[in-house]
Amino acid sequence: MELQNITAATCEIAKEAGAFIRKERQNFNLSKVEQKGFNDLVSYVDKEAEKIIVARLGKLLPDAGFITEEGTESDRNQRYTWIVDPLDGTTNFVHGIPVFSVSIALAQENKVVAGVVYEVNLDECFSAFKGSGAYLNGQPIQVSKASQISESLIAHGFPYDDGGKMDEYLGFLRHLLGNSHGLRRLGSAAVDLCYVACGRAEAYLEYNLQSYDVAAGTIIVQEAGGKVSDFRGGDDYIFGGQILSSNGLIHEELREKLLTYFPI
Ligand code: IPD
Ligand code: CA
Ligand code: CA
Repeated sequence: MELQNITAATCEIAKEAGAFIRKERQNFNLSKVEQKGFNDLVSYVDKEAEKIIVARLGKLLPDAGFITEEGTESDRNQRYTWIVDPLDGTTNFVHGIPVFSVSIALAQENKVVAGVVYEVNLDECFSAFKGSGAYLNGQPIQVSKASQISESLIAHGFPYDDGGKMDEYLGFLRHLLGNSHGLRRLGSAAVDLCYVACGRAEAYLEYNLQSYDVAAGTIIVQEAGGKVSDFRGGDDYIFGGQILSSNGLIHEELREKLLTYFPI
């Protein structure tokens, strides 16, 4: 099957899972939440959404493996691997803040070749495959043209586990606060990336992330004309836990400044 058709079918699967998540949110309350680790929340909604997605994707490409947040087991040594976060933004979901998404990427030998992020409450489906350009609900999108941090809105996230680096990270954020249009902590890494892709933000950065948080969003940013790297500027941003993404034009300025604050 061609990537174009796979991506279109994946959008429908993400929307189906999104409809389930939206419906469950209506009667959701805090008693339904479990704690996976410090500040790491999960519920039956994450797990059921994952089952829906895995069942559908399994039919779409029967030989592909899976990396998923909620533990669907499978062989990772296949040529193709689905990288899935069934609900990105669980803390928002649990507290009723309407920014959460379904994130599905397809990797071929560890390189992402297609990505879909469905923002559940705005009914916005972001998608891209290798060489396609990036799309929001079928319309082409592009990164913004701002060329300096001083003209930029910068999305970021705080990790569940700061790994002892929070002071340095906060130092960099403090610098950005005084030198940009401001910071946004949306609460869904996948949505953060898509907002860079469609020009709502100029950049997004975070550390201590997992592959399923970022895989789909990275190809959407790249296909929209933006840049994605790890904090050093290298390519280890899917499995390496650090991501710096931007419209490309402010990437070097951001990266240089980040390195003056954040130890790597
Ligand atoms: C989280 C979100 C959040 C980010 C966290 C992620 P989850 O994913 O992407 O924005 O700051 O680091 O773990 O747990 O809601 O799927
Ligand atoms: Ca996530
Ligand atoms: Ca999740």
